[in-house]
Amino acid sequence: MQNSDFVEVDIRELIFLLLRKWYILLICLILSTGVAFLVTKYYLKPIYRAETTLFLGKEKDKIGALSLLDLQVNSQLVVDYREILKSRLVAENIQSKLGVDIKTFQNNVDVMTVKDSRIFKISYDDSDPKLACNVVNELGTIIMQLASDIIEVKNVKVIDTAKIPTDPIKPNKKMNVALAGLLGLILGVSIIYLMEFIDHTFKKPEEVERKLDLNVIGTIPTFEGGKRGKKKAKDNKVLEEEYLKNLITTNNPKAAASEAFRELRTNLQYKSVDKDMKVLIVTSPSLGDGKTVTTVNMAITLAQSGKKVLVIDADLRKPKVHSYFGLKNNEGLTNILANDKEIKKINVLQKEGIANLYILTSGPIPPNPSEILSSSKMKMIVEQLKADYDIIFIDTPPVGQVTDAAILSTIADGSIIVLASGQTRIEMAKRAKKALESINASIIGTVLTKIDNRSAYYQYYRYE
Ligand SMILES: Nc1ncnc2c1ncn2[C@@H]1O[C@H](COP(=O)(O)OP(=O)(O)OP(=O)(O)O)[C@@H](O)[C@H]1O
Ligand SMILES: [Mg+2]
Repeated sequence: MQNSDFVEVDIRELIFLLLRKWYILLICLILSTGVAFLVTKYYLKPIYRAETTLFLGKEKDKIGALSLLDLQVNSQLVVDYREILKSRLVAENIQSKLGVDIKTFQNNVDVMTVKDSRIFKISYDDSDPKLACNVVNELGTIIMQLASDIIEVKNVKVIDTAKIPTDPIKPNKKMNVALAGLLGLILGVSIIYLMEFIDHTFKKPEEVERKLDLNVIGTIPTFEGGKRGKKKAKDNKVLEEEYLKNLITTNNPKAAASEAFRELRTNLQYKSVDKDMKVLIVTSPSLGDGKTVTTVNMAITLAQSGKKVLVIDADLRKPKVHSYFGLKNNEGLTNILANDKEIKKINVLQKEGIANLYILTSGPIPPNPSEILSSSKMKMIVEQLKADYDIIFIDTPPVGQVTDAAILSTIADGSIIVLASGQTRIEMAKRAKKALESINASIIGTVLTKIDNRSAYYQYYRYE
């Protein structure tokens, strides 16, 4: 086994996991106790126990104090009585008198001694309390007779005859419900850990580092963003507003996510110290991982730090950069790429209120995105723009689905892979990494986004 196969288990994480999925525990608890209650109440037959107490006196001729030997003899006799009571002879007797089945009788009869005394009890359990009482009283008579006939003990006396029991001894409702509750909780905990075990997504940065062997340069918590696409058909105005909510770094600079984007900016700046990194593509293994939201917010924080930043929307399949910035996309990258003439001036847009930030939207969607992105013209455009900006982010489609991102990575200085916590599948991410590595793309790191900010992981990573 390799080192990387070892998983460190942190008890706090396990507890936080249970707390996060508390509703599963609650459902299991309610279901198990509910079922136990109903089964106990309506399905299980109540069992009653009737008891008679007998006294084993001393033989008349053996006068004297009760000795230890007497007590030992007594407990011995109880064993004898138990065997006698369970004998076929007694069972048949009871069957003929009270109609109790032999096997049932033998299973439900018992004899107990009262510790250190000559008193013993005979009990019989049955769902019919009256029958249980009759059986026990009959047994009292039988045992006195048999004791004298078989083991020649003549002075067995009944102290208490049995009364018809009123309260059942079984089932014990409280005990059953409590036990079922405990089992329900154990089941709930098992379900939660099993779900976690079979969940093939990344949840925390360590998993990314361990399973992908890539650095995590940013951890972005989930923020109240736009639920893109949900209201698409209904109302364009609402949809536009929803998109704008994703600009968390300008909408709410104090939000945890904005702080996280600033930390990502710092990490990027450190990275670019050792290497000239001007053009970065942002991609991800699958659809909707958060590439575009990460790109636009990353670009904003860099622009806020005084860098001249350009965002190019090279997702020519589902371009969204303009939507997130609330800009028009009438003209853009594809117009320049489609134009045969030399590139003279590239018209970039600016978002009002954000200085130093420039945006080249995608332009109309072309029929052959991969083809035009792999053209030498694309390379020329990027080369030309490089001179005018400190840093260029290129938003791309998922690398696991189409070749566009891989193509673009060859003209970029580095690639950033965005992974969505609890969403991006580990297998897809491995494939994406392979695809980029196979063309020698330099992966500068991953950004784990959409981290559940209530989770232990997030608190832990930020404040430890
Ligand atoms: N940190 C975050 N917190 C909450 N929601 C987020 C976060 N990052 C992204 N999202 C949401 O996830 C959805 C997808 O985001 P985004 O458009 O950035 O993904 P994408 O990878 O660019 O998708 P596509 O593959 O379609 O281009 C959006 O609804 C966005 O609001
Ligand atoms: Mg996108």
